[in-house]
Amino acid sequence: AKRTRIKDLLVSSDFGKQVSVMGWVRTFRNNQFIALNDGSTINNIQAVVDLNSFDESLLKRITTGAAISINGEIVESLGKGQRIEIKVNSLEILGDSDAEKFPLQPKKHSLEFLREIAHLRFRTNTFNAVFKIRHALAYAVHKFFNDKGFVYMHTPIITASDAEGAGEMFRVSTFDPDHIPRNEDGTVNYKEDFFGKATNLTVSGQLEGELAAMAFGDIYTFGPTFRAENSNTTRHLAEFWMIEPEMAFYDLNDNMDLAEELLKYLIRYAIDNCGDELEFLKNRLLEEDKQKPQTERSEFDLLTKLNFCLENNFERITYTEAVSILKNSKPNQKKQFKYLIEGWGSDLQSEHERYLVEKHFKKPVILTDYPADIKSFYMRMNEPDTEGRTTVRAMDILFPGIGEIVGGSQREERLEKLEKRMEEMHIPAEDMSWYLDTRRFGSAPHAGFGLGFERLVLFVTGMTNIRDVIPFPRTPKNAEF
Ligand code: 4AD
Ligand code: MG
Repeated sequence: AKRTRIKDLLVSSDFGKQVSVMGWVRTFRNNQFIALNDGSTINNIQAVVDLNSFDESLLKRITTGAAISINGEIVESLGKGQRIEIKVNSLEILGDSDAEKFPLQPKKHSLEFLREIAHLRFRTNTFNAVFKIRHALAYAVHKFFNDKGFVYMHTPIITASDAEGAGEMFRVSTFDPDHIPRNEDGTVNYKEDFFGKATNLTVSGQLEGELAAMAFGDIYTFGPTFRAENSNTTRHLAEFWMIEPEMAFYDLNDNMDLAEELLKYLIRYAIDNCGDELEFLKNRLLEEDKQKPQTERSEFDLLTKLNFCLENNFERITYTEAVSILKNSKPNQKKQFKYLIEGWGSDLQSEHERYLVEKHFKKPVILTDYPADIKSFYMRMNEPDTEGRTTVRAMDILFPGIGEIVGGSQREERLEKLEKRMEEMHIPAEDMSWYLDTRRFGSAPHAGFGLGFERLVLFVTGMTNIRDVIPFPRTPKNAEF
């Protein structure tokens, strides 16, 4: 018979039908009950072997982790916990798994341990659920934009530009490390490199996205981006995926509306399409919470948290308003927010962001109009305020438990202002002539943002470490496979 996926089998009612199923053994109880998983669902099918009809030498090889193929009959299950099971007629071992050596035992392993055996962690329920949700969200991103008529633009991975101007780039070089060509003053002579130029892995597709938006109107990118920051946190990766829409004729309000709509759409999509996975992760978190002291337990379960996000409008306030909220906040005994703010002009620390979102507003917050000096060169300059301070049309979206999930802005479309800002920030205009052409020829108001895909997956799955929501995390000293 043709192979049936376990996902389809579990909802079938074809009792008496002969089926063929392949998968990996999760457990084998009492030499009789196999819990079999083929990855199509986090749920297992129970396959029952009649030990008298099989050789003992074969039964011994049904071990946790082994790949097997079975043929059998769909029957109603008498046991608790499942509706149907398979009565095995024939069984073949496709690949043995030495029970003594297989690192995944049929018990709950810690996420830390699973991170050490990341090459096998796909085979657990937790990671099956996480990466199914990741897949569904990626699909939903494309669906959302496609339905709105946005064009998906592939922007380059290797580029000479530093889109964020932050200098956090991985160099790409074709130099033979033993023969690096140098100028007379000892500096590296990039003209001799394959690209004739210093190139790096992209930190963002935004600038190229802007070129396309100035022709198509509405575009988005969705691809890997790289940051050479040596930070070991639960929110940062050296390689992460980013979704960057860019829209002509949008101002900052349109931009915020789109970002909020997108985030709500994606969360709703996961709720509607990943019910089993979310239910599993919700229960996993509840179990974990039980181990914690009362005061550290979460107030809401995962689904309540997701639904809450859908039901509320995101709070929109300016950076200046946020600073005054923080300054007037009751000093928290542990973290004295009041004194952490160095004053207007400094960037918010994650404690500040968490306070605003989790304690003050208790919902997602969009912070706008940051001081120009802590943001990128391309953001649209506001008129100086009554105190002579300059801000830009920036927006950061802050999420509970995550902090910044989206960063974006209305772009500076006025050529002279942009050139002046680039000069002040020491960004060489001659290298960016291609970018400035968007402002030279038919410049138009436009805006865009970047959504960190892993931070979204973190939020939706309720996982707490970004290394657990990307299949192959790249963090400092972590790039084995
Ligand atoms: O705020 P960022 O640096 O903005 C940009 O790159 C803009 N060019 C986006 C745009 O306007 N088109 O990054 C955007 C988002 C952040 O809000 C965060 O969610 C995520 O990307 N992000 C990271 N995620 C994981 N690891 C890192 N090291 C990240 N850096 C940024
Ligand atoms: Mg940012």
